[in-house]
Amino acid sequence: IEFGPIPEERYNDVINHLRNNFFADEPLNHAVSLCRPGEPHAELEEHSLTTLRDGLSQMAVHTDTGQVIGVALNGIQHPGDIAAAQAKLETMADVKFRRIFDLLYGVNRSLDLFKQHGVDRIFECRILSVDKRFRGRGLARELLQRSVVTARESGFKVFKEDATGFFSQRVAESLGLQTVRQIRYSDYMAEDTGEVVFKMPAPHDTLKIMVKILQ
Ligand code: ACO
Repeated sequence: IEFGPIPEERYNDVINHLRNNFFADEPLNHAVSLCRPGEPHAELEEHSLTTLRDGLSQMAVHTDTGQVIGVALNGIQHPGDIAAAQAKLETMADVKFRRIFDLLYGVNRSLDLFKQHGVDRIFECRILSVDKRFRGRGLARELLQRSVVTARESGFKVFKEDATGFFSQRVAESLGLQTVRQIRYSDYMAEDTGEVVFKMPAPHDTLKIMVKILQ
């Protein structure tokens, strides 16, 4: 397995990898049945491509087959980005997608890490995904570790990940990321109906916003 940055000619392969391994599988996507394995998802693909164009992402490639078998898609967040993204979200048709990003944007906005750390950009790991056939072998850890190195070398002070499930939280904790906010999914109710929005299967019971301060 080889690791490295993601060149533009690999963007399509990355999207294919995500269709088969992330769009249906990530715990929040799975909880709302966002899509079936292999299916495209226009909004998520736009989100992924925008992130790829920041040029900070990492991939794992299977040496024999040349297949992309894991990615960390990393983007830059600036003050005001979330407010703009929230406004755009209101115009989107996919209710399930909106539910997920309502939660993520809402929590992030309430944190204001820019002010807290005196920075005007944050390095954000937005998508961490490993091919189903290669999970549990440390690939995600290696991808996140390399992302931390990229962030440090690019002069970022704050590294952040919204870790939505138990396994990504384990990986992040092992690399020294700290939880700055957590929400138990069973406590997160819809305002209108009072019902739990995301019914998550064990072991995914909490959303953790995780941060590492780079010196
Ligand atoms: N059962 C039990 N433990 C597991 C499993 C499993 N199925 N999979 C991973 N783990 C454990 C590992 O043992 C390890 O813990 P340890 O360090 O205590 O041994 C930890 O979880 C992670 O190990 P890795 O091997 O580095 O992780 P992996 O390469 O399997 O990838 C990932 C983890 C990315 C979460 C993968 O399961 C995946 O792609 N899931 C679907 C998408 C997803 O949920 N992504 C994260 C969402 S948050 C975000 O994207 C920012």
